[in-house]
Amino acid sequence: MNSTDTLFETQNLAKVYTQHDVDFFALKDVNLTIKQGVSLAIVGKSGSGKSTMLNILSLMDTHTSGTLKILGQDATELSTSKKNALRSATFGFVFQQFFLNENLNVLENVMTPLEIAGVRRSQRDAKAVRALELVGLEDKLKNMAHELSGGQKQRVCIARAIVNEPKVIFADEPTGSLDTENSQLVESLLFNLQKETGIALLLVTHDNELAAKCEEVITIKDGALL
Ligand SMILES: Nc1ncnc2c1ncn2[C@@H]1O[C@H](COP(=O)(O)OP(=O)(O)O)[C@@H](O)[C@H]1O
Ligand SMILES: [Mg+2]
Repeated sequence: MNSTDTLFETQNLAKVYTQHDVDFFALKDVNLTIKQGVSLAIVGKSGSGKSTMLNILSLMDTHTSGTLKILGQDATELSTSKKNALRSATFGFVFQQFFLNENLNVLENVMTPLEIAGVRRSQRDAKAVRALELVGLEDKLKNMAHELSGGQKQRVCIARAIVNEPKVIFADEPTGSLDTENSQLVESLLFNLQKETGIALLLVTHDNELAAKCEEVITIKDGALL
């Protein structure tokens, strides 16, 4: 396999928390290859290490041993600024808690990653509007975030996650705080984006029905892949 086909590759990846001289393995011996464009579900009970896994892959957290390669680059060899640049250009995030800025309008929320990535002002508007069209919220651009329903908020988050045209969307329990109808809407939006744009979708969920809709499923138990 060509290294450019591979988004993530881990070898004996581990995350250890040490408290009062006792080592606790939040992740251990994780060997994983994730190809570009896939949909992959990470499932497991609460406390099994799903979020830890996602946070390490997305460079929000660091592993304690083993190796992690992102697009062929060893994560431990990346400088902080390289990490930030890679994260901002390559990753999009959707969380259970929306993390929208309630004091900004919808368009401004979606433009935030573009500001962080240093995209020129003249281009930010058009990109953010386009992302909001893709999630069907072009009529809410000027609404304040707090005026939206939960389902609409999560669609804003998806627009914000894709506005930089990332290679992967990390979604940690993206439907965890939505009702059935909105969950289905958000799910189909995420899967359509993955299929139509080739963005990989890395989904953490404890919903087995949702996981079954992904091309690949990995199960974590006590920090280890089953
Ligand atoms: N900062 C931390 N310090 C110590 N233990 C932690 C820390 N963060 C997570 N853990 C532990 O690591 C394990 C995995 O947590 P997490 O990845 O959040 O699980 P999940 O997302 O599957 O519910 C849990 O036992 C949790 O208590
Ligand atoms: Mg979690």
